[in-house]
Amino acid sequence: MKFQNNISLKKYNTFGIDIIAEKFISVNTLSQLKEIISCHKDIFVLSGGSNVLLTQKIKKPVVHINIKGIELVGNESDNNAVFVKVQAGENWHEFVLWCLEHNYGGIENLSLIPGNVGTSPMQNIGAYGVEIKDVFYQLEALEIASNTIKKFDKANCNFGYRESIFKNIDKNKFIITNVTFKLTKKMHSLNTSYGAIQEELTKNSIKAPSIKDVSNAVIAIRKSKLPDPKEIGNSGSFFKNPVINRAKFNSLKQKYPGIPNYNISEDLVKIPAGWLIEQCGFKGKRFGNAGVHKNQALVLVNHGNATGLEIYELSQNILKAVLEKFDIGLDTEVNIV
Ligand code: EPU
Repeated sequence: MKFQNNISLKKYNTFGIDIIAEKFISVNTLSQLKEIISCHKDIFVLSGGSNVLLTQKIKKPVVHINIKGIELVGNESDNNAVFVKVQAGENWHEFVLWCLEHNYGGIENLSLIPGNVGTSPMQNIGAYGVEIKDVFYQLEALEIASNTIKKFDKANCNFGYRESIFKNIDKNKFIITNVTFKLTKKMHSLNTSYGAIQEELTKNSIKAPSIKDVSNAVIAIRKSKLPDPKEIGNSGSFFKNPVINRAKFNSLKQKYPGIPNYNISEDLVKIPAGWLIEQCGFKGKRFGNAGVHKNQALVLVNHGNATGLEIYELSQNILKAVLEKFDIGLDTEVNIV
């Protein structure tokens, strides 16, 4: 297998940043991946490129995971459950559409999320009341050090809000090669509690929604708020929604009575970072080629030929402004390289 030299990664990252990889290879099978790992341990793994901000030339060999395939795996213990094993290189939204076509329920709320299946567990992707951990059964990952496959069940992954062990203690140690989901075959348990989904269904006079109706509602909401990476480069939410203690929330509420919030526990409250950023005046603003999206301040965008550093600089200015105004430190959701 041969690496290509000096390849632009522009079409491999949803921000559309034009960064050069000194060495690049795309792998289609597990045996190709193992062959590479037998010679190269210090690599940069690239999947859908939907959660990464590239700020500098990549000197490590870039390995693009393009292993495809979807299959049902037997497990007859529950006659409403279906177990679907999906290879890492499958596009996430195309997999959602495949499930809808086969009437398999569980991931309809996760429609239109950019990226590939292999990276979906890394940050426990989530939207509109559902996270991947709700339908996750197990995954297989190649351990780089030993070049062997290891299996992880849900407990081993230690999922949290946009978190898993693959972003923390096991960062850069494994390459996820496939994920198995446990979905429903008929009695689907729909999650339509999210306000915007309810509104969308009511608007379309849908009283008894199917999984396809829920997916369509989510697609409509996302299209109205979030920019399509094919039209304008972005990586979805750039920051995580911060969680603060209740005493701090109460004092903020005095000053900003309309502050949106979600209860996490008796002591903890989550605040939408988009609101904090909008309050600091960034929403819809453009700084050179980098900007903040006009409908969702949590999303940073590439207006054309932004460099990774321009976007990074904007993110730092936002962090500083939110810290100064609210005394809240935001964490980035996107991986900065
Ligand atoms: N808001 C504003 N101004 C903004 C954006 C949001 O005031 O510019 C406030 C509004 O009050 C709104 C609230 O924030 O009601 C929540 O906004 P939204 O429903 O858009 O959700 P979010 O908390 O900003 C999170 C996820 C999204 C996911 C949505 C829906 C994170 C970091 N982001 O955003 O995920 O689609 O909920 O479930 O948790 C992603 O991870 O890339 C992503 C897009």
